[in-house]
Parts: sequence; structure tokens; C-alpha cells
Amino acid sequence: MAKITSTIWSIDPHTEAKHGILRKYLDAWLPIMARWNGRILYIDGFAGPGEYMGGKDGSPSIAIKAVLEHKANLKSEIIMIFIEANKERYEYLKQKINLFKIPRNIQIEYICAKFADTLTGIFKYLDEQRKGLSPAFVFIDPFGFTGIPMTLIKRIMENAKCEVLITFMYEEINRFIGDNKLWDSLIETFGTDKWKQIISEKDPRKRMKSLHAIYKEQLECGAGIKFVRSFKMVNKVNKTDYFLFFGTNNIIGLKKMKEAMWRIDKSGLFQFSDVTDNPNQPVLFDMLPNYSQLKNILLQKFKGKSVGITELENFILTQTPFRETHYKKQILGEMEKAQPPEIKVKCQTKRRKGTFISDCIVEFL
Ligand SMILES: C[S@@+](CC[C@H](N)C(=O)[O-])C[C@H]1O[C@@H](n2cnc3c(N)ncnc32)[C@H](O)[C@@H]1O
Repeated sequence: MAKITSTIWSIDPHTEAKHGILRKYLDAWLPIMARWNGRILYIDGFAGPGEYMGGKDGSPSIAIKAVLEHKANLKSEIIMIFIEANKERYEYLKQKINLFKIPRNIQIEYICAKFADTLTGIFKYLDEQRKGLSPAFVFIDPFGFTGIPMTLIKRIMENAKCEVLITFMYEEINRFIGDNKLWDSLIETFGTDKWKQIISEKDPRKRMKSLHAIYKEQLECGAGIKFVRSFKMVNKVNKTDYFLFFGTNNIIGLKKMKEAMWRIDKSGLFQFSDVTDNPNQPVLFDMLPNYSQLKNILLQKFKGKSVGITELENFILTQTPFRETHYKKQILGEMEKAQPPEIKVKCQTKRRKGTFISDCIVEFL
């Protein structure tokens, strides 16, 4: 990506896809969190000016609209913190957000400073007060790969009910990884120097796979995040620009994020490309998930074994790209109907054939 120096800039289709995921997820996150918590936080760590050239919304406006337009009655206190280091963009953002009529339970804070410094300051204050961070969704969307230390992500995720959505600037990292002046920053971002092993790798696919795997592993093991999912963004010159990484410790969060990502990429490949995106072309066929792929995954894992529905669904959610809505009717139902049947089902309570409730045990024959 060419370096952007202007206050606002034009939007790429894959940025709109990222915003689609953000909005869809917030629509699901807000009522769940507001129902159970007196106070929730939305932190936009790299907020930008709130608007793109041509008037399209930036992430702060998207988040505010998600709150204001929500059908549920969001009664809890919602604190929205917008951090933007660039003074002109910060001023532009404030003007833009001031146009919204904000209800009393919503508090907006603007901070013109660096994300890492701001969060470090917040944690220092909370430590002094012996308090934790309220349940928070933290959007970390930098232009580059600096200023997002893994130690800080760990610190965020140590707090209950906190989640992160991170733009991992793959293309830039891949391009500059050999430059030893940037190694300290890379070590800070990854929380390890394991990425050094790919410097000599010539195969671009292997480089991408390894860098993605190392960052994912660091989020899981370094930052201690239970569930991590990513989504690939391909730019107009057909290069992988970045991965969006989502991290949560809550299975419902994972479910809702997968739903949001599937909505943007109905093929289930978890990617969006500016090259193939054509909003003017009518969609002739509804794209369906690749059910035979999921069936193969389940057979590989469970053939000859019995498994409870809860365990099966957990496996699908956490270990495959598929969703909890993808397996009962489309796979188990068909396998039960097959002649001869491909599964045997035992349940404690009475059930109709083709329905699979949580007390059922499925034997893959
Ligand atoms: C990719 S843009 C954000 C776009 C915005 N999240 C959106 O989706 O509309 C990154 C923004 O972060 C700002 N920025 C750069 N370094 C920063 C830092 N260390 N802390 C906070 N903001 C920073 C830049 O000025 C820029 O506006």
C-alpha cells in the first residue's frame, strides 16, 4: 500500500469488507454484552478520521451506528474510546462524530495519542486502583506493523470478556522482514523472533503460511487467547495485503465472528479479494458451503467412533472453518437417511429422525 499522508483517503473494497465484518459482529456483540454487564467498552485503537473520501464511514462511525441503530434496548453504559495519533485526523474525527446525537448512556472519549502508550497508561491507572478493564472489544487497525506489542494484546486479553480484532499487515511484514533495522519492532509485534526462520524461505506460499501460523500461535500461546480466527484480505494487485485476526476467550464470540466472516465470504474460504469483487455483477446462484469437505473432515476425525453432539459441535466451531449451522441437517441428517445409514444415533430423550439435540451420541459407522 502506498503511504497515506492525507487526512482522509479513498476506501478499498477490502476495507469495506473489513467494515462489514466489524458491523455484523458489533450487531451481535452489543446486545449480548449489554445484557450482562453494567459497563462495556469499544476501543478503536487506530481510529482514523471516521470518514473516507466520498463520504463512506470509517470504523468509529460504523461502531457508533451499530450502537445507535440497534433494535435491542442497550441499557448498559457504553464507553467508546477513539484513539488516533495524527492531529488532523483526530480533529476531523471529532467533528464527524459530533454530528451524531448521542444518548446519555453512551460516553465518547477521543484521545490524540499512540495506541500502545494510551493502553499502557490505562492499565497503569487500573493497576493502581486494583481494578480490571471492563468487558471490551478492542479494534487494532494500524497502517503498518509497529505499535501493537504482543505483550499489550496479552494484557488486554487477561481481562475477562475482552476481545481483539487485529489487522496483521502481512504484505508489509513480508516485504521488510529482511531489514534488520526493523527487527526490534517485529520482535515486539510477534512477541518472539521465530519469524526469522522465514527470511531465507523463497516460496511465497510457504512464507505466508509460516508468518500466519507464527502470529496465530503467538496470539494463542503468547497472549493466551483461547480462540483465534483469521480472514485474508487481497488487494487490487492480487497480493495478500493483510489478515484480520480475531481473538476471544468465549465460544459465543467465536460463533458470532464466524457468522460475520461467512457473511462476507460465502465460500467459507475466509477471504476477500479486490480483484474478484464486482458489486455490479448480479449474483446468479446462492453460494453454498462445501458440505462434502466438512463431511470428510468429520469422517477423518470420528470414523468408527462415537461422539456427543456438544463435543461434535465444539470441534466444528473451534477446529474447522465451518459453523454450528452447517452440520445437523446437511450432514448428519443425510448420513442418517443414507442406505445403508452412515451414522447411528442414540439419545436419552425421544427425538424425531433427522433432529440432533445435545444429549444425542452419534456413532460414525
Ligand atoms: C488504517 S487507519 C485506521 C482506519 C480506521 N480504523 C477505519 O477502519 O476506518 C490507521 C490510523 O491509525 C493512525 N495511527 C498511526 N499510528 C498510530 C498509533 N501508534 N496509535 C494510534 N493511531 C495511529 C493513523 O493516523 C491512521 O489514521
